[in-house]
Amino acid sequence: MVLRTIDWDSEKNTIHLVDQTLLPAEYKTIECSTVDSLCEAIKTLRVRGAPAIGAAGAYGIALAAHKSKASTALELLDELESKAAQIKSTRPTASNLSFSVERVINTIKSVAATKADIIDVATEEAQLIADEDIIINKKLSKRGAELLEDGDTVMTHCNAGRLACVGWGTALGVVRSAVEDGKEIRVVACETRPLHQGSRITTYELMEDKIPVTLITDSTAGYMMRRGLVDKVIVGADRITEDAVFNKIGTYTHSVLAKEHDIPFYVAAPASTVDCKHSEDEITIEERDPDELRYFKGSQVAPYNVPVYNPAFDATPMENITAVITEKGVFQPPFLIEELII
Ligand code: MRU
Repeated sequence: MVLRTIDWDSEKNTIHLVDQTLLPAEYKTIECSTVDSLCEAIKTLRVRGAPAIGAAGAYGIALAAHKSKASTALELLDELESKAAQIKSTRPTASNLSFSVERVINTIKSVAATKADIIDVATEEAQLIADEDIIINKKLSKRGAELLEDGDTVMTHCNAGRLACVGWGTALGVVRSAVEDGKEIRVVACETRPLHQGSRITTYELMEDKIPVTLITDSTAGYMMRRGLVDKVIVGADRITEDAVFNKIGTYTHSVLAKEHDIPFYVAAPASTVDCKHSEDEITIEERDPDELRYFKGSQVAPYNVPVYNPAFDATPMENITAVITEKGVFQPPFLIEELII
């Protein structure tokens, strides 16, 4: 088992990542040696989760720089800008992807003068982004762990664990830190239709770490809350704007249920998820292939031509959120969005 979900191969100048479409049946890493293969891996969710695709995007620029045949620094920079646009377009909702890609491009522009400089700076900055991910996640997890009490049962949706990041995790990182602090925490994992990140990945990670986890269908959440079987809800985020948190489709429904049952609803995410420039209505929600609902692992589960609506994410209004946890602190709405990142 590798410790990082995604890593740079400094001998071959390629990217290695865990192919998450195969989990839990198979734990296998694949190698991306072209930007096209990396983009395919992001689009098909071989690598997924906002922080992990952020690191993937940053490594993608390093990959493009190493593989480029450009003859001048200017030509190389032009080429990297176009690869940056290609990478950013793979998944529009998570802000970490564009944040990391732009961070690498901006660092190159500010410090690199020659072709060799550009290649070195791109590689170093991408490595830094990936290394920082684990450090930041541990920091926000320590803050978040203080909100969990010994004996808590915590519900989560999708996968915001180490496989959604370079390592450690955000929502599941908070659970890991609380367990490290000696608290007994049980997790309820919602399966997360249609791609089952909860049942395939969250349960897998937690069972590996020997943290007690129970799998439920997404529609069991309300019944469990009504019966008093959930103490807290904690999820990750793909983007946080001044008025909403974007996360896997179904998150909003859980937030409404949590509010109805007076259950604290927490969001844990790094500051790179925060978008200070836009509000809810301006964000593009990724819509995925209708066949994700018509077929399951190749078996038909709906009429092949039934019209489908398949948004990958939803937006939870800030008023449904008890607190947002970033590496900078724990913030209870209402707050100024800038406070989350300073
Ligand atoms: O479509 P996915 O699997 O990339 O969606 C992932 C999520 O919605 C996660 O909750 C989010 O990215 C936070 S991961 C730390």
